[in-house]
Amino acid sequence: MAAAFQPFELERIMSDWEQVVEYNLSESGAHPVKVRELIEHDPDILDRMLDTELGYGYANGSPELREAIAQYYPGATAENVLVTIGCIEANFITFQTLLEGGGEVAVEVPCYLQSWGLAHNLGAVRRTFNLDPDRGWALNTDSLEAAVSDKTKLISICNPNNPSGQILTESEMDAVVRVAERSGAYLLADEIYAGSEREREDVSPTFYGRYDRVIAAGSMSKSFAMPGLRIGWLVGSRDLIRKLWMRHEYLALSTAKLSNHFLAPLALRPDVRKAIFERTRGYIRRGWDNYQTWIGENADILSLVPPQATAISFVRYNLKTDSATLANRLIQEKSVLIGPGDYFGVPNHLRISYGLPPDYLNEGLRRISSLLRQIAEEEAAGSENERGAAAG
Ligand SMILES: Cc1ncc(COP(=O)(O)O)c(C=O)c1O
Repeated sequence: MAAAFQPFELERIMSDWEQVVEYNLSESGAHPVKVRELIEHDPDILDRMLDTELGYGYANGSPELREAIAQYYPGATAENVLVTIGCIEANFITFQTLLEGGGEVAVEVPCYLQSWGLAHNLGAVRRTFNLDPDRGWALNTDSLEAAVSDKTKLISICNPNNPSGQILTESEMDAVVRVAERSGAYLLADEIYAGSEREREDVSPTFYGRYDRVIAAGSMSKSFAMPGLRIGWLVGSRDLIRKLWMRHEYLALSTAKLSNHFLAPLALRPDVRKAIFERTRGYIRRGWDNYQTWIGENADILSLVPPQATAISFVRYNLKTDSATLANRLIQEKSVLIGPGDYFGVPNHLRISYGLPPDYLNEGLRRISSLLRQIAEEEAAGSENERGAAAG
């Protein structure tokens, strides 16, 4: 009998609540770009868009868009690129293609658990390897070696990492490639957060080109701050890209024409990409100052390895209440949404976004700490009562 369907818990809570709460601190991209802000980089584009017929467009992505993507991957051409509906489809069809008929997959934890649920729903055998919270979320290479064998078909990694915001070092990347090469497994590198670096100016390097079975996934949703375009992509060998395209035909046919032919190619133009990444980093860096102050003020409950990239942080809390209960109380009592750590594979953590306008961020954080303090008091009173009952 097939195993029960596993829902995608993080996206479930977000779909239910992100448009409802007063303060949404669950979003992992920087504050979204307005259409007006984007098209200011090409004043004639609007006219061209208005004269466009709303036909299907290119199923695998317009040549212009695939070339614009390929320029950022060493040695890639438009033939190595497939354009998808967001990185969510990119990951989905990669899993579906490479795990057809089951097999083993090695999944990084913590991560965006699309990989975890998807592997289960495809009937694959799941192994995990870890980033270590006690070593600043460094890659635990022993756990990687243990999770990967010659049975492994796919290794799934996210760099920069969602939710910890850490960027793999060059030697960690080498270790991942070494382990993948030894087993012959494909390596799916979800690099959707490259470009959102908080501490450094260079864009995090890609795995693409380091091993012939790398498939790199990206998107307009996070560092580009344009999730509404619903454009993502995969970059891999021509052979694999053709196989993935055949799954894309079943699932999506093509992406939306105005994004595919106009808006995404414009956002990827080198000067525009640079300006957008600066905007994203501006939100992240300004938000970080406020956020760091808030963490300091609540250091009796919270601790954090500072994220090196992304608009999110993965903060540890020292209360007994589990993270899903805490997140639900935040929704019900404070109208704030965050991501519970359990939905990324790590208990006693919360994923909180900080790449937001200051007034919005500060009020959201104020509400979170007020509930944390209330829960700390409740838990202390509960322990007091238990002690009283035991003594009586
Ligand atoms: C690591 C990761 N991959 C993929 C996605 C899906 O993004 P998209 O909007 O491009 O479909 C997300 C969204 O949060 C993500 O965090």
